[in-house]
Amino acid sequence: MSELRQRPTATSNSSNGPVKEPHSRQQSSNDEIDRDHGISLLDIIRVIVTLLIACGGLSYYMTSSESVMWGYRPWYTRWPVVKQWVQGPVILTPSQLSVYNGTDTNLPLYVAVNGTIFDVSENRMIYGPGGSYNFFAGRDATRAFVTGCFKEDLTADMRGVEIMFLPVEDVEDEVMTSAQKKIRREQELRAARARVEGAVKRWTGFFANHEKYFEAGRVVDGGVDGEPWPLCESAQKQRPKRSAMVEQS
Ligand code: HEM
Repeated sequence: MSELRQRPTATSNSSNGPVKEPHSRQQSSNDEIDRDHGISLLDIIRVIVTLLIACGGLSYYMTSSESVMWGYRPWYTRWPVVKQWVQGPVILTPSQLSVYNGTDTNLPLYVAVNGTIFDVSENRMIYGPGGSYNFFAGRDATRAFVTGCFKEDLTADMRGVEIMFLPVEDVEDEVMTSAQKKIRREQELRAARARVEGAVKRWTGFFANHEKYFEAGRVVDGGVDGEPWPLCESAQKQRPKRSAMVEQS
C-alpha cells in the first residue's frame, strides 16, 4: 500500500513532459538482484582463507605431518626457534654444556662447533643416546669434525690440527736451499691453516643452515692450555707425502 502511495501520479508530472519512472518497481528489484549476486570483500577473504587452510592441510598430509607450507619452514614457524629467540642465546661453560647430551629428555640436545652451540633436538636418532653421532652431543668437538678421529679428538683444542694437511718430509736428497725450504714450508702452512678454517666453516654452516637445527648460543671459558693435542693416528696416516708430490710435479 505504501508503494502505491509513493508512486508519482501522471497529473503531478504532466507539466514537465513525459513521465519517467527512475525508481520504479523494476529498478528496485534489479537492485535486489545485484545485491544477491554481488561479491563482497568478506566473500573474497572467506574464499582465500578456505583455500589457504585446504592448501596447508594438503601439504601437512603430503609431507607426513612435517610442514603446512610444502617443506618451506621459515624460522618464525618453528616454535623452539621462536622460543630461543625470545629467551635469548644460551651461554654455557663446557661442563654446563655436557648436560645437554640427550640423556635428560626434558632438556634440548646441543652440539657445539667452534664455540657456537646448535640445537639438534630434532635429530635425537643421530645425536641422542645410542645415535651414530652421539659423541658430538653436549660438547664442542671441533677438532674431531676436522680430523674425523671420533675417539681421540673430542675437544675444541685446535692447536696443531693443520699438520694433517702438511706433507710428510720423506725426501732426503732434495735440491733446495734451506731458505727455499723455509719459504715453501710457510706457504704450505698458510694453505693448511686455510683448509682447517674451511673445514670448520663448512661444519658451522652445515648446522646453521640445516632445516632442523638452529643456533642456540655460545660456549664460554672453553680456553685450551697445557700441551698441544697430538695429531691422531688416522689423520697422521692421511697426510700427503713429499715424495708423491715431487713425483707429480
Ligand atoms: C671427518 C669425518 C666425518 C665427520 C666429521 C662426519 C660427521 C657427520 C655428522 C655430524 C653427521 C650427522 C649429520 C646430520 O646431522 O644430519 C654425519 C652423518 C653420517 N655420516 Fe659422517 N662424518 C664423517 C665421516 C664419515 C664417513 C667416512 C662415513 C662413511 C663411512 C660417514 C657416514 C655417515 C652416515 C652414514 C651418516 C648418516 C648418519 C645416520 O643417519 O645415522 N661419515 N656425519
